[in-house]
Amino acid sequence: MMSLLFSVCVTTVFLTSVFQSVSGTPCVCELKNLVRPFPFSKLDNINRAASQCNGNITPKEMKEASGLMLGLQSRLKQLEESVSVLEREDDGKLYGAVSLRIIELELAEVLQLMLKLNETLRSNQRLSEKTIAELQGMLEDMQNLEDFDYMQVVKKQRENQRMKRDLDRCQNELQATAWPPTASPGHCPQGQLVNVSGPRTYSLTQYGTSYPYGAWGKDPKPAPGKEGMYWLVALTSSSVYANYVRQYNSWSTMMVGVGPTDASISSSNPTTNTIQGPNVVMYGGALYYGCYNTPYVCRFNMSDRTVSNVALPPNTGINNKFPFAYLDLAYTYTDLDFATDESGVWVIYTSPENFGNIIISEVLAKTPPVLGRNWKTSLHKRTVTNTFMVCGVLYATRFLNKETEEIFYSFDTRTGIERYDLRIHLKKMQPNVQSLNYNPQDRMLYMYSDAYILSYNVIFSDTLYA
Ligand SMILES: *[C@@H]1O[C@H](CO)[C@@H](O)[C@H](O)[C@H]1NC(C)=O
Ligand SMILES: *[C@@H]1O[C@H](CO)[C@@H](O)[C@H](O)[C@H]1NC(C)=O
Ligand SMILES: *[C@@H]1O[C@H](CO)[C@@H](O)[C@H](O)[C@H]1NC(C)=O
Repeated sequence: MMSLLFSVCVTTVFLTSVFQSVSGTPCVCELKNLVRPFPFSKLDNINRAASQCNGNITPKEMKEASGLMLGLQSRLKQLEESVSVLEREDDGKLYGAVSLRIIELELAEVLQLMLKLNETLRSNQRLSEKTIAELQGMLEDMQNLEDFDYMQVVKKQRENQRMKRDLDRCQNELQATAWPPTASPGHCPQGQLVNVSGPRTYSLTQYGTSYPYGAWGKDPKPAPGKEGMYWLVALTSSSVYANYVRQYNSWSTMMVGVGPTDASISSSNPTTNTIQGPNVVMYGGALYYGCYNTPYVCRFNMSDRTVSNVALPPNTGINNKFPFAYLDLAYTYTDLDFATDESGVWVIYTSPENFGNIIISEVLAKTPPVLGRNWKTSLHKRTVTNTFMVCGVLYATRFLNKETEEIFYSFDTRTGIERYDLRIHLKKMQPNVQSLNYNPQDRMLYMYSDAYILSYNVIFSDTLYA
C-alpha cells in the first residue's frame, strides 16, 4: 500500500515551468507538487492501534462466555425435565421432599452460574464498547487517508475482495450437508459413532449380587499371552473400596466363575494405594484408578505388582464431592472416571474452579505416569451418569428411565466442539450404571450395572453398511 501511494504521488507531480535558453545558458526546471504530502505517520498510528485492538479481544474470552451459556442452557433443560418427573412421581411423601431438596440445591447452583455468566458478559460488553469506539476512530482515519487514493486502486481491490468472499461463502453453503441428528463428531478411521447395539452379553459375576459397584473389561493393549483375559474389580468394602483385581482366562470361565487369579494391591482394605471408586480401567498390563483418599491417579502394574502415581491438579474433587448423578441419586465416590480409547488412557474429573464442569486429562504411560494435555468442558458432572472416550471424543450418558440410558453429549478434544443433541440409546437390564468404558480393540462398551456385567457393540458410520 505504501509503494502504491508513493507512485500515485509521483504521477500527479506537475511540471510548472520550463525555461529553455537559446544562448546556451543552463536550463532551469522548477518542480512543484500540487498534492498534499501523504501522512505516513497517520497510517503508522492506525496500524499500531489495530494490532493493539486485536490483542485486547481474544477468542478465549468469547469462548468462556459461550461455554458457560451452553452448559447453563442444558442444565435448565434438564432441571425442567427433573421437575416434570417429580410432578409425575410425587407420592406426597418422603420421595417428593427429598427430590425437591435436590432440585433446590441444583437451582442454587444454576443461580451461581448465572451470576458468573452475567459478570463475564458484562466485562465482555465493556471490552466491546471500548473496541467499537476504537474501530470507529480507525475507520474515520482510514477514510481520510483514502482521499490520497487518486486512482481508486485500493477501492477496486476491496471490491474484488468482497466479491471473492461472497463467492467463497456461496460455495461453502453449497457444500455443507447436514449430519443425521444422532451422528457424533470424531475422527475415527471407521467413521463416526452412530449407534450402540446390545446388550450383547449380560450376566451376574461370581460374587452374585453382593457388590453393586464395580467395573470389568478387557485390556485393549494386553501383554503377550494375555489377549483372551477379562478383568473384574468389585468394590468389596462399603461399595467404595477394593484392594485386588480379579482376572479370568476367557469369557466363558468368567461366566461360570472358575479359575480366577487375584492380584493383590494391599492386604488390607482400604489403605494407602488401594482402589477408591468404580470407574477404573486396565491398559497395557496395568490398572488405572483413583487412589484411596487422595487426588491421585494410581497405576497398579499387574506384572511386578507395584503402584506408581501422579497428582491431579489442586482442588480436584474426590471423596464424593463431584460424583456422577441423576435427580436424587448420586453414584457415590465416582469423582474420578478413567477411560481408554485408541490413543490410550484418560481421566475425567472436575474442580470448583471449573464450576463442577467436567475436565478431561490425558494420562501418559510414562514411568511414573504423567498428565498430558487437558480440556475444560461446559458439562456439569452431576448431571451426567457416566462418560467414556472414543477416538479422542468424550461421550456422556444420562438416565432416561429404568430401561434406557442415553448418550446425549460429546466433546471433541481435537476441535473443542461440544454437542448436547446426541440421542443414542443404551438398553439396560438394571436401572443404574456404576461404570462404563470403551475398548478400542474390540470396539465394545463394557458396563457394570447393579452387580451385573454387560457389553455392547459400538456401531460406526463406515461399518454400518459394510
Ligand atoms: C446482571 O447484571 C446487571 C447489571 O449489574 C443487573 O442489573 C442484573 O440484575 C444482573 N442479572 C443477574 C441475573 O444477576
Ligand atoms: C440403533 O440400534 C438399535 C438397536 O440395534 C436399533 O433398534 C435402532 O433402530 C438403531 N437406531 C438408529 C438410529 O439406527
Ligand atoms: C510393569 O512392570 C514391568 C516389569 O518391571 C515393566 O517391564 C513394565 O514396563 C511395567 N508396565 C508399566 C505399564 O509400567
